[in-house]
Amino acid sequence: MNQDDPAVASAKGKGPGQNMSDAALAMAAATHSPAQSSPTTGFGTPIEADCQVPAARRRCGTDAVLVLRRTVSPLLPLRHDSSQSVTNSVFEFPKENGRTYHGFRAGTYHFPNDPNETDRLDFQFEILKYCFSDRNYFAPLNNPKRILDVGTGTGQWAIEMGDEFPDAEVQATDLSPVQPVSVPENVHFFIDDASEEDWTLPSGYFDYIHTRVLLGCFTDFREIIRKGFYYTKPGGYMESQDIMSTPYCDDGTMPPDWPFSEWTQYGDDAAMEADRPMRIANKFKRWYEAAGFVDVQEKVFKLPINGWPRDKHLKTLGVMSEENWMSGLSGLSMALFSRILNWSKTEIEVYLVNVRKAIQDKRVHAYHKVYVVWGRKPLTATPGSGTATSAALGTATSAAPGTPV
Ligand SMILES: C[S@@+](CC[C@H](N)C(=O)[O-])C[C@H]1O[C@@H](n2cnc3c(N)ncnc32)[C@H](O)[C@@H]1O
Repeated sequence: MNQDDPAVASAKGKGPGQNMSDAALAMAAATHSPAQSSPTTGFGTPIEADCQVPAARRRCGTDAVLVLRRTVSPLLPLRHDSSQSVTNSVFEFPKENGRTYHGFRAGTYHFPNDPNETDRLDFQFEILKYCFSDRNYFAPLNNPKRILDVGTGTGQWAIEMGDEFPDAEVQATDLSPVQPVSVPENVHFFIDDASEEDWTLPSGYFDYIHTRVLLGCFTDFREIIRKGFYYTKPGGYMESQDIMSTPYCDDGTMPPDWPFSEWTQYGDDAAMEADRPMRIANKFKRWYEAAGFVDVQEKVFKLPINGWPRDKHLKTLGVMSEENWMSGLSGLSMALFSRILNWSKTEIEVYLVNVRKAIQDKRVHAYHKVYVVWGRKPLTATPGSGTATSAALGTATSAAPGTPV
């Protein structure tokens, strides 16, 4: 690992726990004008996101607006008596083994939402940006007017898209209100559960729908793709970018009993038991085609697990990846291993000691595959073609989610 490499240094400067300087925060605040008080689509009442947003996400002021689409949508209102409790649950982050988790639809997503994790998500955004040679998307976008990011996390992708396409309306959804409070005025965050049958919007609404790193989030990602098809405009695009959890190695240096492989297997098994498969990315292309997308393209990128490669770009990626694993391993393990495998916090932490050593072992030339898949909804598709209902979504494909590669 070459710590003097400026690319490594700059990448590490953005790593977890290395918060932006005050000057950088001020610059971000100046660059990003305050969000509007309600989204341009007219969906309902904004909810002020003030003290409940973790400190790390508070970049400036108190002007952020989050909208609980499902409690306010004129298309799918919740019953009056339940809407207040849903609103409260969004901001109540249940604590478990020293980490916090989303309160809305609590228990359905197994990774934390506290500042440690949101810093890691911001760093993961930098890693993928570097992995993709500074690209945010691969679909051939032509002046998109409406963009959706499903499961946006800290919203970095949505914010950059809002900057790049100032004439577009960028909507971004998540279970957790962990997005920055100061964003471009064309970017709107919604608290929404993408596994709902209905995304409470007209069909064919978006020119471009994007998902990124949603492994382990959904029972059946085919449903997200089929809904994506339904909500994409004819001629528009959907794109999914995701990491296969399986570690790969091309030169025989990864031993069969490598502790990181064992950890991955435990995690994958627990996720399967929780009905949230991880090994989905290598099936995206098939699933996009089955959903009706055409001209479906797939790109696969290598993401080394540590700085073992000689190639400068891959080495830098590996160094970033190792740092991401070091900061994220405990959070990525805690809920799955405790809730599903019934391990105690102490058992988990003791077990992770060897896993961390394995991740740092440069004699093992292991890497992850990052899949990027995009497809176009045919122009001949009528705005409402496809369906958003889960009954139809369950029928159409030959591959089960989460089958091992
Ligand atoms: C690993 S993070 C990825 C975030 C972001 N896409 C990125 O690339 O940084 C997964 C995100 O999906 C969100 N998520 C999980 N299940 C969801 C659901 N059913 N509906 C909406 N968002 C969900 C989580 O809250 C989390 O922020």
